[in-house]
Amino acid sequence: MITEQASAKINLFLHVGDKRADGFHPLQSLAVFTAMGDVLSMEPGFGLSLTIEGPFAKGLDGEGDNLVLRAARALDTQGAKLTLTKNLPVASGIGGGSADAAAALRGLNQLWNLDRNEAVLRDLAAGLGSDIPACVLSASCFMEGRGEVLRAAQSMPRVPMLLVNPGVAVPTKDVFAALGERSGVEMALPRGNFADTADLLRFLETTRNDLEEPARRIQPVIGDVLQAIARLPGALMTRMSGSGATCFGIFADDDCCRRAAESLKTRYPGWWIAPTFVPEMGIVHEAAGQDIGPTPEGL
Ligand code: C5P
Repeated sequence: MITEQASAKINLFLHVGDKRADGFHPLQSLAVFTAMGDVLSMEPGFGLSLTIEGPFAKGLDGEGDNLVLRAARALDTQGAKLTLTKNLPVASGIGGGSADAAAALRGLNQLWNLDRNEAVLRDLAAGLGSDIPACVLSASCFMEGRGEVLRAAQSMPRVPMLLVNPGVAVPTKDVFAALGERSGVEMALPRGNFADTADLLRFLETTRNDLEEPARRIQPVIGDVLQAIARLPGALMTRMSGSGATCFGIFADDDCCRRAAESLKTRYPGWWIAPTFVPEMGIVHEAAGQDIGPTPEGL
C-alpha cells in the first residue's frame, strides 16, 4: 500500500490580473504547504474505487466524479482501491481537492510502476485544475500563469500557522466572478530566499490577496474570522487563503499558535480551527530556486 500526504495549500499572497480570453485570470502567488492535510492511501484493485472517510467525508457525499478519480483516469486505465481521509474542509481556499488529486497522481505513478517524471505529472495536473501542478510539487513556490507556471522558493523558514474556517463553503468561480479591483500581475517576484519569518513578513507586507474583498462580500463572516485571528496574542499576520473562506494567521512560535487555537475554539466552537506549521525548506531542496514549467502547449 502507498500512502501520500495531501498537504493544505496556503496562498500567502494572491494577486490577480484581468480575465484572459480563456475565462481564467492570470495570477501571481506564493503558495506554501502545511504539515496538516488529507491522506490518500492506494492499493492494487480491480476497477477504480474511492472510499472517503475522516471529519469532512460528509462534505463530499454524492460526489460521483471526485477529482481524485479524474486524476487517476488521466494517469492510466489500471485499477486501484483508494481511501481518502478528508481532514480539510471542502471548497475552502486551501486546495484540499487539488492536493488530493495531486496525491493520486504521485501515488498511483508509483503503485502502477509508470515511472512518469514530475514534469509529466504536473502537465496532467494542469489539465485537471489551476492549483494542482503546485500541489504535485507540494513545496513553497511562486505561481504564475493561471497557476501552472511555478518557481520553487529558494529557502523558507519554519512558519507556525493557524488555519481557521467558519464553516461556509465559497465556490472559487463565484469569488472570481465578484472580483473588482485587482493588483495585476506585473510585480517582479523575489528569489524567495527568506532567511526568517521577519524577512518573509517584510515581503508579504507589500502584497495582498485580491480575492479577499469579493469573498467577504459573498460571506461577510470572513471579516469576523480575520479580526478574531488578528487579536490573538502572538499573531504576526492574518490573511485569507485562495478564494476563501479559510483564513490563516502566522504566529511568533508554536506555543503561541497552539494557545491561540485553544482560546479561539472556546469562543467559536462551530469553526474549524487547526494549528499547524509550514516545514522549513532549505537550499538543499531539490527544486529550490528552479524554474518549473511552464507546461507544454495545449494544456
Ligand atoms: O482551475 P480551477 O478548476 O481550480 O478553477 C475554478 C474556477 O476558478 C474557474 O472556472 C475560474 O472561474 C476560476 N479561476 C480563474 N482564474 C484562475 C483560476 C481559477 O478565473 N487562474
